[in-house]
Amino acid sequence: MSAGLSAGRLAGSVVYLTGGGSGLGRSIVKRFVAEGAHVGVLEISAAKNRGLRDEFAHGVTTFTGDVRDISAHREALHALGRQFGKVDVYIANAAIWDGNTALLDLPEAQLDAAFEEIFAINVRGYLLGAKAAAPALLESGGNMIFTLSTAAVRAGGGGPLYTASKHAGVGLVRQLAFELAPRVRVNAVAPAGMATDLRGPHALELGGRALMADADPERMRAAYPLDFFATPDDYVGPYVLLASRTEGRSLTGIILESDLGLSARGIRAVSGEAQRTLASQRAAVGQRL
Ligand SMILES: NC(=O)c1ccc[n+]([C@@H]2O[C@H](COP(=O)([O-])OP(=O)(O)OC[C@H]3O[C@@H](n4cnc5c(N)ncnc54)[C@H](O)[C@@H]3O)[C@@H](O)[C@H]2O)c1
Repeated sequence: MSAGLSAGRLAGSVVYLTGGGSGLGRSIVKRFVAEGAHVGVLEISAAKNRGLRDEFAHGVTTFTGDVRDISAHREALHALGRQFGKVDVYIANAAIWDGNTALLDLPEAQLDAAFEEIFAINVRGYLLGAKAAAPALLESGGNMIFTLSTAAVRAGGGGPLYTASKHAGVGLVRQLAFELAPRVRVNAVAPAGMATDLRGPHALELGGRALMADADPERMRAAYPLDFFATPDDYVGPYVLLASRTEGRSLTGIILESDLGLSARGIRAVSGEAQRTLASQRAAVGQRL
C-alpha cells in the first residue's frame, strides 16, 4: 500500500473511476492517491493503464475495458470489493467530445452513428457504472461524482451532440441524488476547458487525435474572468470536497461549476475606470508570478 493511505482527506477510501488514463482522470488519480485513497480505474487504453501502474504502483488497480459494457463495470467493482471489502466513491469521467461540430456541419449520413457513439459513452456509460456501483455504495454510504462540463449548463462548449449529452448528465445527477438519498450522495463537477487527450467519435472521424491538445492557451485564457487556462490539476479540488464524507456531507444533487468564472461573465464590459484598475492589478500579479 502507498504511504499516502494512512493519512489525507480521503484516507482509506476506495474509489472507482472511469477514464483515469489521461487528462482530468489521471489528475484525479494522482490527487486521490496523495490524499490516502486507493483508486480502481476502468480505462479503455491498456497502454494508459500500464502508465498508471508504473506511476502509482499500489495506489491503483487498473481494469482495461469499455464503459459501454456493464460487465466491465461489474468486474472492476467486484474485484475492488474482494480486495478492500467496500467501495466508497464512483467517479464517472470517461467521455468523448464532438470537436465543436455545429448542427449545420454535421453530415447527415453520420448523424445517427455519431449520436449513438457520444450518448453511449457520455450518458449510457455513466448510467451503467451507477447501476453497477449502487449496491456497494448503498452498503458503504458512499457517493457518486459525475464529470460534466460547462457544456452541461450552457451553449458553446461543444456542438449539439456533446452539449445535449452533458445536459443529460445533469438529469442523471438530479434523479439519482433524489432516488438514492439519504444513503448515497450524487453530485457533478462541471469543468471548463483544458488541454488533454480528449477524443471525438469515430463516426465523425474525430477518434484519432487529441482535439483539445491544439487549444490556443491565449484565446482560452481570454474567455475566462479568472484569466488563466486551467490544467487538469486545477480542477481536482472540487472532487476531493465532494468525495469526502466530512467536507461533502451536506452536498447532493449539485452541479459544481468549476468554470474559471465563466458563469459570472457579464453582457457589458466593465467600466473604463474599473478596467484600468484591474489591468494594473493584473500586471502587478503577473510581475510577482
Ligand atoms: N478537456 C476539456 O476541455 C474538458 C472540458 C470539460 C469537461 N471535460 C470532461 O472531462 C472528462 C475527462 O476528459 P479529458 O478531457 O480528461 O479527456 P481524456 O481523453 O484525456 O480522458 C478521458 C479518458 O477516458 C478514456 N475513455 C474514452 N472512452 C472510453 C470508453 N468507452 N471506456 C473506457 N474509457 C474510455 C480515454 O482513453 C481517456 O483516458 C470528460 O468527461 C470530458 O467530457 C473535458
